[in-house]
Amino acid sequence: MVKQCETMDKKPIKILAIETSCDETAASLIVEENDSPKIISNIISSQIDLHRITGGVVPEVASRAHMEAIVPVVLSSLAENKEVNYDLAREILRNNVTHVAVTAGPGLIGSLLVGFNAAKTIAYAFDKPIVPINHIEGHIYSAFSDKQGFDFPILALTVSGGHTSLILMKSHGEYETIGQTLDDAVGEAYDKVASLLGLGYPGGPIISKMAQKYRDSGQNVDFSFPRPIIKDKTFNFSLSGLKTAVLQKVKDILATGNLENTDQIDQKTKEKIAAAFEEAVGDVLAYKTAKAVEKLNPKRVIFVGGVSANKYLGQRVEEEIKNIDGQLQLLTPGRGLSGDNAAMIGLAAFYHIKRGKVSGWRDVKVDSNMKLL
Ligand code: KG4
Ligand code: ZN
Repeated sequence: MVKQCETMDKKPIKILAIETSCDETAASLIVEENDSPKIISNIISSQIDLHRITGGVVPEVASRAHMEAIVPVVLSSLAENKEVNYDLAREILRNNVTHVAVTAGPGLIGSLLVGFNAAKTIAYAFDKPIVPINHIEGHIYSAFSDKQGFDFPILALTVSGGHTSLILMKSHGEYETIGQTLDDAVGEAYDKVASLLGLGYPGGPIISKMAQKYRDSGQNVDFSFPRPIIKDKTFNFSLSGLKTAVLQKVKDILATGNLENTDQIDQKTKEKIAAAFEEAVGDVLAYKTAKAVEKLNPKRVIFVGGVSANKYLGQRVEEEIKNIDGQLQLLTPGRGLSGDNAAMIGLAAFYHIKRGKVSGWRDVKVDSNMKLL
């Protein structure tokens, strides 16, 4: 149950935030400065090397890795730039930290539970209020790390490995999902395309580098992939047909070249496929976002989630929204904040706290399918 915060004392807010919804174990310290949140530390222990072996996240492996990393990561975030020290961490938790924030969902249940129970335990042991945060809301707040104004309504294009949606943020804590993917998320499509081309994991950064290399070479792409449901009347997305089209293209190249496997496809051809794929994704994201701008007239547009690290996609979206409204700028997350991290959870929590939306450790629940309300 959410209760009004009665403890509106003058002590500046200091939040320990924890995020473990997928494959990054993360903790961050956020403090209040001039009525705004400031990131003091943002520690991320990535499991990518572990998941590279399997070409994707194995949930059981992810939760075990979170178990190993959670205490050192939390201690490092508390130590700021000083040496990690149990006594110092205890002192900071007891005397300085005012709130604990944690991702409550959506995500992998076994992963979520590790961070969630760590946060609950800290809230209980040090008698602190707890702020459960939706992971997607965290991504949205990642665009506002450097005190840029919240000019509502804000249109958020949220694109990661697990999510692809257009969300209208009417004010702090007030959201309306106006469109979302009907099948794969964009990040997932990048990962799958990389995998079927025999490239590494995660596929997003690899495909985007190859596509950029092809564009930089100045050569044309002499084929194109479909832009599924681009012209329908909704703000939804569909990526699985695009992925299947890439698979078909790869099969055709293997057949015509009499090749046995994707290792035998030359690098330039792979780069061309990456460029054609990325162009199709860029078109779909840019077109749908621009349509939403046209209909909803937002004052700001933000592009967040792991895929927002992709500069080309950001440029495509920005060009298209500027065609609708020349004043609009596309805001993207600050450095190190596009992928999963705990600072974004702390930033979102800051505004929950300001609205008095905090809970007691007994009242919070984890929800792997948590909706953004
Ligand atoms: O937000 P995130 O770290 O985790 C989830 O909440 O899913 O997003 C991870 C996803 C992965 O699918 C990864 O391939 C993708 O973001 N990604 C990218 C890029 N960097 C990461 N996709 C396209 N281009 C990139 N530069
Ligand atoms: Zn995420």
